[in-house]
Formats: sequence, C-alpha cells, structure tokens
Amino acid sequence: MPDYKNEITRRRTFAIISHPDAGKTTLTEKFLLYGGAITLAGMVKGKRNSRHAVSDWMEIEKQRGISVTSSVMQFQYGGYCINILDTPGHQDFSEDTYRTLMAADSAVMVIDAAKGVEAQTRKLFKVCRLRDIPIFTFINKMDREARDPFELCQELEHELGIDTYAVNWPIGCGKAFQGVYDRERKRIIHFTSNGGSKAATATEIALDDPALASLIGQGYRDQLNDEIELLDGASCEFDMDRVRHGQLSPVFFGSALTNFGVEPFLEDFLRMTTSPLPRTAGEELIDSFDDGFSAFVFKIQANMNKAHRDRIAFMRVVSGKFEADREVYHVQGGKKLKLSRPQQLMAAEREIIEEAYAGDIIGVFDPGIFSIGDTLCAPGKKVMFQGIPTFAPELFSLVRQKDTMKRKQFVKGATQIAQEGAIQIFQEVNSGMEEIIVGVVGTLQFDVFQYRMENEYNVDIAMSTLPYSFIRWIDNEEIDLKTLNLTSDTKKVQDMKGRYLLLFSNQWSINWALEHNEGLLLSEFSQQ
Ligand code: G4P
Repeated sequence: MPDYKNEITRRRTFAIISHPDAGKTTLTEKFLLYGGAITLAGMVKGKRNSRHAVSDWMEIEKQRGISVTSSVMQFQYGGYCINILDTPGHQDFSEDTYRTLMAADSAVMVIDAAKGVEAQTRKLFKVCRLRDIPIFTFINKMDREARDPFELCQELEHELGIDTYAVNWPIGCGKAFQGVYDRERKRIIHFTSNGGSKAATATEIALDDPALASLIGQGYRDQLNDEIELLDGASCEFDMDRVRHGQLSPVFFGSALTNFGVEPFLEDFLRMTTSPLPRTAGEELIDSFDDGFSAFVFKIQANMNKAHRDRIAFMRVVSGKFEADREVYHVQGGKKLKLSRPQQLMAAEREIIEEAYAGDIIGVFDPGIFSIGDTLCAPGKKVMFQGIPTFAPELFSLVRQKDTMKRKQFVKGATQIAQEGAIQIFQEVNSGMEEIIVGVVGTLQFDVFQYRMENEYNVDIAMSTLPYSFIRWIDNEEIDLKTLNLTSDTKKVQDMKGRYLLLFSNQWSINWALEHNEGLLLSEFSQQ
C-alpha cells in the first residue's frame, strides 16, 4: 500500500444540501468553528449578498465570486481531513449545484424543523439518489417551534422514499429545546448556550441517572421515556450497510444557530460516513487507494473579466496523490500537461497547493482546454471516468439574435457557453440555428448568458420565456418522432448532440405521452 494511505483514509468529502434558508450556511460555519478553522462564527461570507435580487452585472459577478470562494472548503477535525462541497442555492442555483453532488461521497441534508421537506430538497435528493450515496439528515432550528419529530421522520420517508433511523432524539423544542438523547449510548447531551458564535457547553448524563428529572424537568423526562419506547418499537433497525447504499438515512436533531447538537452530529457523521469512494471508469472501478493519480472535472467557472478569458476547472481527485510539479495526462485532450496554479480553499482562504490526495477537490486555471466530465491522470495510467450526466433544465427561453448579420457570432457564442456547461441549448427538430431554445436550471443563468453574449461575443439577443417546465430525453434508440401521440402543447427538440427530447408544460402531458406511446422511454438525466 502506498505511503499516502493514511492521508486518504482520513478524508471525508461531502456536500450539504438544503432548501434555501434551512440553515446550510449556518451549519457549515459551525462545522468550521468546531474544526478550529474559524474562531468565531459569523465569518463565512456570501450568505447575505446572495439573497439580493440580481439587477446588474456587478451583482452577478459578485455572486459568481461567492460561488467560487465557497465551492469547497477543507478543514481538519478530530484527525479527519474534511472537504465540504457547497451546493449553490438561491438565485445561483444552477446545473453546477447538481454537478457538485457528483464529486461528493455523501450528503448532509439540512431540513427546517418547522417546514419539513421542501421543493429544493426534493430536487437535490433526487440527484444524490443517482449514485446512491449515503444521506445524513440534520433536522435544524429545533430552538424554534418545530413540528413533531415523528411526523418529520415520516414525511422524509413518504416524500423522499428513504427509510430513516433517528440516531438522536430532541428533548423539547423552541425555548425549551435542551438537548438530545443519544440512542446508542443511552445518554442525554444537555446543552447550555454560550451565544451562537462560540461552541455550546454540553453536559452528559445517563438516561437512568436519577438526577435527570431535575436537570430537564419531570415532564420532559416522562415524555422522553414514552418517545424512546415508541421509537424502539416502531422505527427501522440501524443497518450501516443500508446507510452506505443510500437506503437508510441516519437522522439527527439540533440547532445550528445555538450550536445545540452540532458537535455530536459532526462526530457521528464522520464516524459513519466513508473514506473516498471508488469511481466507475468503463468496466472498472478505480479505488481511491490505487496507485497513480486520477481525477475528473466536475465544474468549470468562467472568468467574467473580458481581459482574462481563463477559467477555473474544479476537479475531484479519485485516486492516489496529486503533486503540483508532476505532469499529468489529459485523456480527452490526448496531451500531457502541468496543471497551472493548483489551489484549494481552506475555510475562507484560497491557497496554492503542492499536493492533494484522493477525496480532495482542486481548482486549476483552465486556458479553455477542459470540459465537464474530463479525466486527468498520471501519464501511463489508462483510465477514463464515466461522464457527468446532463440534468434536465426547468426554465426555457426562445433566443434569437437581433442583428441577423451576426449569425456566426451568435452560433459561436451560444455553442461555446453551452459547452462550458453554463446553459443547455436545443433546437426545434429540423430547424436551423436562427432561433435556439436555451434551457437553464436557475434564472441567474439567463442573465449570465445574455451578458456574456453581448460582452464577449458582441451579439445582442432577444429572449422570450417559453411556457415549458419539463424536458425529457427520449431514450429509445430508434424512434420515428412523427408517430408519437402527444398533447398539443408538447414540443419536439434536439440537443447539441442530436439527441431527441420532448418539452412539456406540465406533468400531466408527460403522463399522457407515456400512456399513449407504448414502449416510450423518457429520462430526466442524460449520461454523456
Ligand atoms: P441557507 O444557507 O440554508 O440558506 O440558510 P442560512 O444558514 O443562511 O440560514 C437562514 C436563516 O435561518 C438565517 O437567519 C439563520 O440565522 C437562520 N438559522 C439557521 N440555523 C438556525 C437555527 O438552528 N435556529 C434558528 N432559530 N435560526 C437558524 P436570517 O435572519 O435570515 O439571517 P441572519 O440575519 O441570521 O444572518
């Protein structure tokens, strides 16, 4: 086994997913606080600025800056080296949010205890399910009035189709939220606040300790006893194998704001989640401990400054050790190269790095040679990772150039921006590129597209919103589109690779298409 085995073993690479406002930023910050990466919570920037509506380019640039700096953070805790991947939400929710999940080995799903499962949680959860990665649930904001914990667990199971196992159980909620009961160790962790910016003080006491009633109150003591009985009788068995395969989600309760339950969650989560997982390359599985560096690109961030056309490519190291001064082989480009200024983010700081290990995320300057899904590896190591899927956009606009003389620039700009993965473009079947349909996951991408077409390619465009909300790839190898029986508001289109797709206004029309065309295969993701 190579000497860097220990470095890889102690790595944990995960994404935090949530609906906006559930507490993802706050929880991330508290992890950094407990990891000693920051000394006082309130230092991680980004949250507030990204809330404002996007009105001008400066704002977009600022937002993009934020999503660069908060893309991934590395810190140490209890001997682990942790990589947290941020999944941009709010207005900068985009395909990048989904792609980032392809680089994670597990996900922490933050749920607002008063709201339960929300729209964006569902979408992100679906993407996690594509690879069956372990999903850990943190039910947040227990310091506010919360819904019944049993009801919340049931909702997770019914809405998301995943079994749950409560690892701990809350004692009270709102102002009366005092701590959590640790089911495995049969002890109560009682918290006292030190103000949210510092770690909370925890006192541990056994469930059968006679002093418990005076600590939490007789009423809560009795209630806890009843709830434990219910839990032990009704819930699923804990099964680590099912957790690792994304079938059972360990559930934790707490409050990121007051720090109650954050550290026990972090500790249990790190214990239960895995070291970097292997990845598929053709028929093979490339293990993180395999000799020789390999990585894949999962995100490309274009530089918005016209004077600097370079971009940053983010890659996930899959195996071995990356060394900055060594040449690597870019499989899709067929070339050996040295990666320029490899960098990593430590808390809020950006650092040029000399080495990285399987599980790590590195960002490199990209002169325009990388595409999403590309493989890099040690020269001589024959490997090509499975590409990153293309995710179904949900917002569509019809786009045309205002000046028809600029057709060439229009086609070039739209194609290049689409190749970078910032937007997806479609055409009506058998039509030219005079008009294209642009599909995006988040509205900010339309603004970015328009700005870049005007500033980088010098083409003024007109965009009109289309009334579609769903797109599905047709998976049937051979199909005669003319024979399809579809509702009148369904549109047939092609993507840049010539694959056929259908645009729908509602779920009802999708069902109609499936019911009236025997054997029709529609999919929400397209493997590249
Ligand atoms: P997000 O990244 O998932 O969008 O959520 P974020 O952490 O930004 O939290 C959204 C709001 O919820 C913030 O309040 C934050 O302080 C609050 N919050 C997060 N965790 C908890 C919690 O455990 N308990 C309570 N009571 N509130 C929580 P805000 O007023 O919108 O922003 P701010 O003024 O606090 O920055």
